[in-house]
Amino acid sequence: MDKIEIIGGTPLEGRIPIAGAKNACLALMPAAILSDKPLTLMNAPRLSDIQTMGNLLESLGVEVKSLQSGQVITLSAHGPLKHLADYDIVRKMRASILVLGPLLARQGQAVVSQPGGCAIGARPIDLHLYALERLGADWELKGGYVHVTAKDGLKGGVIEFPTVSVGATENAVMAATLAIGTTEIRNAAKEPEISDLAVCLGRMGAVIEGAGTDVIRIRGVTELGGATHPVIPDRIEMGTYMLAAAMTGGNVELAGAKRELVEAFAAKLEEAGAVIEDDGKSLRVRVNPGGLSAVNVVTEPYPGFPTDLQAQMMAALAIADGTSILDEQIFENRFMHVPELTRMGADINTRSGTATVKGVRKLKGAQVMATDLRASVSLVLAGLAAEGTTTVSRVYHLDRGYEQIEKKLSSCGAKIRRIGS
Ligand code: EPZ
Repeated sequence: MDKIEIIGGTPLEGRIPIAGAKNACLALMPAAILSDKPLTLMNAPRLSDIQTMGNLLESLGVEVKSLQSGQVITLSAHGPLKHLADYDIVRKMRASILVLGPLLARQGQAVVSQPGGCAIGARPIDLHLYALERLGADWELKGGYVHVTAKDGLKGGVIEFPTVSVGATENAVMAATLAIGTTEIRNAAKEPEISDLAVCLGRMGAVIEGAGTDVIRIRGVTELGGATHPVIPDRIEMGTYMLAAAMTGGNVELAGAKRELVEAFAAKLEEAGAVIEDDGKSLRVRVNPGGLSAVNVVTEPYPGFPTDLQAQMMAALAIADGTSILDEQIFENRFMHVPELTRMGADINTRSGTATVKGVRKLKGAQVMATDLRASVSLVLAGLAAEGTTTVSRVYHLDRGYEQIEKKLSSCGAKIRRIGS
C-alpha cells in the first residue's frame, strides 16, 4: 500500500489549480440515467471515486467515455439499463446510493445494495427512502439490498425532510424531474453541489426552482434531453489548500477558487489570522506575521462551516495560539484524525462531538495512519507544518478526493513524495 512521506517546515509559495468538485460530479454522473441522450461533464476531477462511479454506471448499462485523461466524461444511458447496483461496487463508495432516484424515475424500479457505514458514521439512507416514498414508491430491505418500485410511475408530492441531507435531497430532485406533477422539497440541503445539479438538470430540460434555498420546487416532465455541463470547483479542496498556505506561513494562489463557495470557512480562517485576497479569478492566501490564533468552530449544513473541512481545520488549530473548541454536529464519529494528530504532539481532548484543541508551538513528524478521506488530508497538512518527517499510510483514502496532491503541493515547494510499498 502506498505511503506519503513529508519533510515539514517549508512555507508553501506558488500556484495551485483547483479541480472540479468530487461531490458535485458524484451526483451529476448518475443524472445521466434520467435521459437517453448523452450528458457531457467538463472539468471533472481525476479521482478514484469518479472512476468508481463510472464503473457502477457501466455495470448498469450506461456507456461512459472519458477524454482528456478524465477531465471530460460523456455518459449515455441510451440502451436498456439494468436496475441492480451490486454490493461489491456500492460498498466501496456510499455515494453509489445516488443511482437510486434516477433508476427509479427512468425504469420504475431499482435494487441497490445498502451502502453500509463507513469510518465517520452509520450513514443511514432512511431519508432517501422517505423522499421516494413521498413520490409514490414502495421499498423493502432484503438481503442487504433495498428494492424500490413505482409500478405506476412516480407522482409529484411534498417532501419535508426532518433533518438536512445532501444525498437525500439529490436523490429526491433527480427522481422528481420525471414524476407526474409538481414536487416540493422542504428543508432541502443548500450545498453548492445541489445548485450545480439543478443547473445541469435544467440544461437537460428539467423544470426546477429554488435550488440552493430551503424549498426546491420541481415540475415533472415526460423526458429529459442531453446536455454539456461544467462541474463547479471543489470547495473542500479549496479550503484544504487555503489551510496549507496558512499553516506553513506561506503565500499561495488558488487558481479557479471562488470565495462564495467557502464563505463561512474563509471568514473563520480570517478570524484565526489568515489574509485572503480575491481577484475574482483566484484566491491568494497567507497568514498574519503572528501566525494563527485559536477560534471556535461548529460544523453545520451549508452555508455553515462544512463538516468536510473540520479535520483539516483541527490540524491548523493544533498549532494555533490558544485553545479552540470544535463542535462536529453532522457526523457521529468524525474525530478519527485526533489520535493520529496526538501522535504528532497535538494537545486535543474529545468528548462526544466536541474537541478541545490546545495549540502547541510545533508538531513533530511521526508515522501516522489515514482512516478516511478528510482525516488523511489533515495528517498531510500537519506533516507540512511539523518539524521532521511524517509518513502517512493507507493513502488510498487520499486518492479518493485529492487530485495529484503531491504534485500540487511540491509545485509550491513542499518536500512530499509517494513511497510505493
Ligand atoms: C454528502 O454526504 C457528502 N458526500 C459528504 O462528503 C459530506 O460530508 C456530507 O454530504 C455532509 O455535507 C457526497 O456528496 C458524495 P448527508 P451525504 O446525507 O449525502 C444523516 C466527503 O468527505 N442522514 O447530508 O451522505 C447522516 O448520517 C464526504 O467528501 C440520515 O440520518 O451526507 C449525517 O449525520 C464525506 N439519514 C447527516 O444526515 C439519511 O438518509 C448528513 O448526511 C441520510 C443522511
